[in-house]
Amino acid sequence: MNQRELFLRHVAQTSDLPLLGVDVNIQSANGSILKDVNGKEYIDLISGISVSNIGHCHPKVISAINEQSQKYMHLMVYGEFNQSPQVKYATALSKLLPEQLSTVYFTTSGSEAVEGALKLAKRVTGRTELISFRNAYHGSSHGALSVMGDEYFKSSFRPLLPDVKVLEFNNIKALESITSRTAAVIVEPIQGEAGIRKANHEFLKTLREKCTELCVILIFDEIQCGFGRTGTLFAFEQFDVVPDVLLIAKGMGGGLPIGAFISSPSLMSTLTNNPVLGHINTFGGNAVCVAAAQATIEVIVEEKLFLRAKEIEDLVLKNLQHPLIKEIRMHGALGAIDFGNETVNFKVIKGCIENGVISDWFLFCSTAMRIAPPLTITDKELLTALETLKKVLDAVS
Ligand SMILES: Cc1ncc(COP(=O)(O)O)c(C=O)c1O
Repeated sequence: MNQRELFLRHVAQTSDLPLLGVDVNIQSANGSILKDVNGKEYIDLISGISVSNIGHCHPKVISAINEQSQKYMHLMVYGEFNQSPQVKYATALSKLLPEQLSTVYFTTSGSEAVEGALKLAKRVTGRTELISFRNAYHGSSHGALSVMGDEYFKSSFRPLLPDVKVLEFNNIKALESITSRTAAVIVEPIQGEAGIRKANHEFLKTLREKCTELCVILIFDEIQCGFGRTGTLFAFEQFDVVPDVLLIAKGMGGGLPIGAFISSPSLMSTLTNNPVLGHINTFGGNAVCVAAAQATIEVIVEEKLFLRAKEIEDLVLKNLQHPLIKEIRMHGALGAIDFGNETVNFKVIKGCIENGVISDWFLFCSTAMRIAPPLTITDKELLTALETLKKVLDAVS
């Protein structure tokens, strides 16, 4: 069997046709360029789904990983040892966040951060009802799946968590369903898998007010839209609101697996009692992953990469017009090009990959292709990718 056959046989698959049947076997990745085993280069327009915000294999991340892995990697389950990389990172991050977001609970993934936040909300409020929004994606584990805003992806796995309501996104009237029975509302300030849809300012403001009035925990999921991707370090900075809990992962680790839920010391302290060890895990805040996260945040802040996100948006909007495109939704370097047609979209994405540009579509929006390159992509690389895309669009039409 060749490697493609071995991949399909021995690595568990999540669809019948990964990457629409194009075989991509990468040997190395650097910045925004992936190189396959035959030496063919691809420009990365999706950053491994908003992970490689500072580019692949950033030298500062590599050196942080090397340095930390020579000292120690795993010492003890999360929360017991006073580990310098964790303390340094949590302190640095809390300085970049509003005062009430100053306690960081480290996880190994985004879904796990969601799970921790939902439990925290139930523990703090003593309530059970959870509210989310249509076309929201918060992960695939049972709790995260329970608050997913799409029935097709949920129905085969029921029963899920009881007492979940899914409301219409950006509908202020729908917020009347939040009551004093509600433990938490979880929302992406910019929905990712819905096909990049930004919350209205008024909607998030009303949501914040409602949650404050009814003592409901407001959770912002910035797992996809955080870490500079949308023009500010975190997307919530673009609204006049601060959540009670902030969720991060993906771009946090510069390519290594790490996530976190962040809240105030008083809310977070409820996980220490009744029961003690209310939320525990083995690998959260792994020293090497946190060292990579530290290097990543330093690069984003020092190089002000969140400002580059806006330049990427402008470059795309200025250089991409085509009769096949029905709508472009760009919020910084998080974007969707919508063709209003799934067949066209899949043909375009397949054509792009075959011609050396990596993109994909959205879980709940199969008519649009994703544009979320590393924030370090050069103008030349981005313009080359857009030229390729335009040639593919001509060929498809
Ligand atoms: C907004 C959002 N929340 C949560 C998750 C789940 O994160 P993970 O895949 O790391 O579990 C994702 C992943 O795509 C996401 O985009």
